[in-house]
Amino acid sequence: MLKIRSIKKMQLLLEVARQEKKRIGFVPTMGSLHEGHQSLLRKSKKDNDLSILSIFVNPKQFFANEDFALYPRDEKKDEILAKKEKVDIILYPSIKEMYPDGYKTYVDVEQLSNVLCGESRSGHFRGVATVVAKLLNIVCPDKLYLGQKDAQQAVIIKQMVNDLNFPSKIEVMPTVRENDGLAMSSRNSYLSMKHREEVPVLFKSLKLAKYKILKGETSAGQIIRQIRSNITQNTSGRIDYIECVNAETLQPLRTLTGRVLIAVAVWFGRARLIDNIILRIR
Ligand code: PAJ
Repeated sequence: MLKIRSIKKMQLLLEVARQEKKRIGFVPTMGSLHEGHQSLLRKSKKDNDLSILSIFVNPKQFFANEDFALYPRDEKKDEILAKKEKVDIILYPSIKEMYPDGYKTYVDVEQLSNVLCGESRSGHFRGVATVVAKLLNIVCPDKLYLGQKDAQQAVIIKQMVNDLNFPSKIEVMPTVRENDGLAMSSRNSYLSMKHREEVPVLFKSLKLAKYKILKGETSAGQIIRQIRSNITQNTSGRIDYIECVNAETLQPLRTLTGRVLIAVAVWFGRARLIDNIILRIR
């Protein structure tokens, strides 16, 4: 497993790999790897000749009062897990090389970036789209692997890849969960013991919503009310949003039809947790 910090070096190395017709799979992350990241790395290794992991805590997707400084970083542990998943190259770009003094270029995916998480984290997806565009230009992978856990992020990156003619294909992998249903996330480490006991309610309430919909409920309002009461009655979490939207356009729905994304964001102490399910409703 190679560890590369220089962007230039990475580009030269991958140019050679492409000349040798190697298929390149790419998993961009912010590190603090867990089983969710590992599932993407496993798929990347399975589908490609070269599996590339990037680890970069991207300052442009955090804003002033967010957890950039606190975000967990553990290079040693990440390297052990990367090795376990047979990663060929880890790219660790530096902030200085990614955003040198005088950096001025940003990617803004309109509309999709301003709803759901974009409403309370304004500018977040501009930072995400910008860093992913840069990483795609550095790695030029055949395939890019993303997680459904961050459903809005996946929709936005798909749109960007399409709009800007990046040649990479995107694969979105299912959310990996703890045994009690909690979606794995690097931010779960912020949870207190009390909150850790409460948080499985998020996925439980999404599953209950799915059950109600399969039984015939078609009102988004009803489903949102039910999820809200489930969360407020069973946890001390502070709800940021609960929404039922079209899974492609991210526009809110009144009547549940087509591919529906039901997404929640809830604060538990200083951890803001997100979760979602996607249903295909006729
Ligand atoms: P990060 O949160 O480290 O996640 C990296 C990738 O792992 C994302 O595609 C995310 O959706 C996926 N992932 C995280 N938890 C998952 C889980 N429980 N199951 C399945 N997949 C999971 O998302 C980011 O980093 C950044 O925004 C990034 C895209 C790297 C840009 O900086």
